[in-house]
Amino acid sequence: MIMKNPYRPILTTIEKITIENEARDLKTFRLAFSDDSQASDFHFQCGQFAELTVFGVGECPIGIASSPMDENFLEFTVKRYPDGLVTNALHNCPVGTSIGVRGPLGNCFPMERMEGKNVLIVGGGFAFTTLRATIQYMLHEANRAKYNDLTLVYGARSPGELLYKEELEQWQGRNDINTHITVDKGDENWKGKEGFVPAVLEQVAPSSKDTITLVCGPPIMLKFTLPVLTKLGFGSDEIITSLEMRMKCGIGLCGRCNIGSKYVCRDGPVFTYKQIQALPAEF
Ligand SMILES: Cc1cc2nc3c(=O)[nH]c(=O)nc-3n(C[C@H](O)[C@H](O)[C@H](O)COP(=O)(O)OP(=O)(O)OC[C@H]3O[C@@H](n4cnc5c(N)ncnc54)[C@H](O)[C@@H]3O)c2cc1C
Ligand code: FES
Repeated sequence: MIMKNPYRPILTTIEKITIENEARDLKTFRLAFSDDSQASDFHFQCGQFAELTVFGVGECPIGIASSPMDENFLEFTVKRYPDGLVTNALHNCPVGTSIGVRGPLGNCFPMERMEGKNVLIVGGGFAFTTLRATIQYMLHEANRAKYNDLTLVYGARSPGELLYKEELEQWQGRNDINTHITVDKGDENWKGKEGFVPAVLEQVAPSSKDTITLVCGPPIMLKFTLPVLTKLGFGSDEIITSLEMRMKCGIGLCGRCNIGSKYVCRDGPVFTYKQIQALPAEF
């Protein structure tokens, strides 16, 4: 049997690019597989990531922003760091560019554990990407009946910084997901909520009974969201997040991403707060 080389990326092509925000530093890349066999071999689950290669430049880990139910393409929403080697190069790639994809990597959100339960999703800023994939997955007609009440609290700095604007509007029009979108500060056209995500979460006050929560956002949002969730009655095993660390191999071999005995690339990136509390204090 021929062993698959875990460092060898599969070939994809940029099929579509969506500029997500006013600052134009967040783009969603839709990647099409170069052949059908690669599409059928790439089985991933919500919450996983992949290493994206810009050939001749390098690779970097990015969460998969599309749903596993969409089998013919992958989407990644990437923030461009002006001094970032790969993200900057990726943002300069036009439609038609070949991109390498190594993965899927890491663990995933506990989709089976969430079946039969209510799911609360709390997202802030551009860390919303894998949560978006998870919402798409749960709302799919083949899956919606597996989950009870779905509640989303999602916020960004300003209306122009909200990701996936058309989809947010569609979700707001559905009656099988409770959607609470907020911005730190609105503009003259903004008719929605204003306020930080933790404050809006406290106002919405979703029940913690039979509920699992997925929370992804910048560290400051997580810091103020956790006490609110605790006040609402969520235990540390019912709060699940995804960690971002600098990575290299992405497969648990180089030791670049460890926290104590855990490798974020292999044992994560998805962890419960109970697991995070058991990690070394310096984290
Ligand atoms: C599991 C996982 C999922 C991720 N998902 C996404 C995603 O969906 N979308 C997205 O835009 N990004 C995501 N990231 C972050 C992304 O991997 C980094 O932004 C990327 O590696 C930067 O690469 P670069 O070559 O452009 O930057 P580099 O040239 O490596 O660095 C440029 C600058 O950015 C800083 N920097 C780079 N990466 C990080 C980091 N992880 N934390 C803090 N500072 C950093 C460096 O210190 C430096 O100042 C994810 C990271 C992980 C580990
Ligand atoms: S990135 Fe190499 S061990 Fe995690």
